[in-house]
Amino acid sequence: MFKKGIVLILFAIPTMLFSKEYASKNLEILSMKNEPVGVLYKGAKVNENKGDFTLSGWVMDGNEYIIFYSSKDRIKLARLEDEFTKNMKVSETKEDVYGVKWKKIDIDFKLKNSKALVTNENELWNKEEELYQRCGSCHKTFEAYEYTPNQWPSIMKTMKTNAGFSKKETKAVSVYLQYESLKGK
Ligand code: HEC
Repeated sequence: MFKKGIVLILFAIPTMLFSKEYASKNLEILSMKNEPVGVLYKGAKVNENKGDFTLSGWVMDGNEYIIFYSSKDRIKLARLEDEFTKNMKVSETKEDVYGVKWKKIDIDFKLKNSKALVTNENELWNKEEELYQRCGSCHKTFEAYEYTPNQWPSIMKTMKTNAGFSKKETKAVSVYLQYESLKGK
């Protein structure tokens, strides 16, 4: 009896410590009524709370269906059905230098395959890191921080045929470089 209690506590500790988790692949987002309402993109970080999840990010006023990492760093965290964006809680608003209005938001949801969340960010990009080495056959492999998260997708678009990447590989390496470029700052 007593021992069982101790074992339960030991199992509970890791989940308390690691409540922040990363999508290891694109995951289907479900409403609280378990209806499919969007996609959480690989690399996005969520907070778990008793089996539900919260995502924080920034959205453009009028285009709330794409959630970005920040108003400056346009890494896509999730895409939602228009209807579901009504559940967003806005905590801050601002206008950027281009006159675009941004809202800082939180949104709660369920995930279809929450087992595909990992607690260690470093486990996410092994495959992409290896693929990226192909970019070094003509020039040096640029450090991710040499370009911004907003620049990498268009660089990848112009360079993908050089490296012989499929559409899927291009997208994957592009997102990896976007997150990686944040680390250099
Ligand atoms: C077949 C050779 C080749 C491969 C492979 C290649 N590149 Fe390039 N890359 C070039 C050449 C040539 C240039 C310079 C001319 C240009 O900008 O088109 C360049 C330029 C660049 C630049 C701009 C450098 C600057 O000084 O502005 C970046 C960034 C870059 N490549 C990234 C990549 C990435 C990422 C990959 C992998 C997807 C890649 N390259 C694969 C040939 C290649």
